[in-house]
Amino acid sequence: MSADRIDGKAFAGGLRERLAATVPAFTAATGRVPGLAVVLVGEDPASSVYVRSKGKATVEAGMASFEHKLPADATQAELLAIIDQLNRDDAVDGILVQLPLPKQLDEQTVIAAIDPDKDVDGFHIANAGRLAVGQPGFVPCTPLGCLMLLKDRIGDLSGLEAVVIGRSNIVGKPMAQLLLGESCTVTIAHSRTRDLPAVVRRADIVVAAVGRPEMVKGDWLKAGAVVIDVGINRVAGSEAGKTKLVGDVDYASAAEVASAITPVPGGVGPMTIAVLLRNTVVAAHRRAGLAPPAGL
Ligand code: GUN
Repeated sequence: MSADRIDGKAFAGGLRERLAATVPAFTAATGRVPGLAVVLVGEDPASSVYVRSKGKATVEAGMASFEHKLPADATQAELLAIIDQLNRDDAVDGILVQLPLPKQLDEQTVIAAIDPDKDVDGFHIANAGRLAVGQPGFVPCTPLGCLMLLKDRIGDLSGLEAVVIGRSNIVGKPMAQLLLGESCTVTIAHSRTRDLPAVVRRADIVVAAVGRPEMVKGDWLKAGAVVIDVGINRVAGSEAGKTKLVGDVDYASAAEVASAITPVPGGVGPMTIAVLLRNTVVAAHRRAGLAPPAGL
């Protein structure tokens, strides 16, 4: 048996086209385009690449992109001053502070300073709380993208057994909340979980977000499970000196048992930016007192 490959890149492309198509009506109603501000502190190469791709995708969707770059030794006061300015700026609907931050800066304080109604990352405790109690807010982009792929593949998730491996605030915990909201029976597994393969074998849906290359093996899976691989791990490639990206799931063995699985790259990764744009479009509509377009 060979699992279907869930094409996150194609799904994300479709979502980005649908988002771009909503911009003219927003502009007709408000006289402006939705705007996303991204703040980057320091010059971490991976973060710089992400920030560039976010800016490019924002402009491609017909939206306004604002970039703020601070030196690696920026102070907390300097960063908070920029957030305050962006909170007040009417042209800015979404604010994203690229993580991780240099160690002199306190992430929780910085996130708490973002206006929750512009918190398109969904990291503010107000948005975590709204998700937990089922009120409208903003949901972190990666787990929301995973949920979109699951619903597109499966349809109604009600009653399914879901195992989320990883308990981070950015992926594991919000993913579990979203699946609970879809009436799944949810287990959050983590580094202290006993007999992880046995726990994963119960699952109709597996979401792997642990950051350990190819940890989840095919013989951990129930036949026909749907597997979402959030991992992006850089490992040595077969050619000397070359590296390659792999997920948290051993794709080859998992594809023998699963019914569908996301590849790495080309699965969850492209969804994150598309959902960031989606959250920005939703933020723009809410801030303008308009109903967000249906079907996003
Ligand atoms: N760093 C890695 N992923 C993310 C993300 O989704 N949002 C932010 N702000 N920083 C990140």
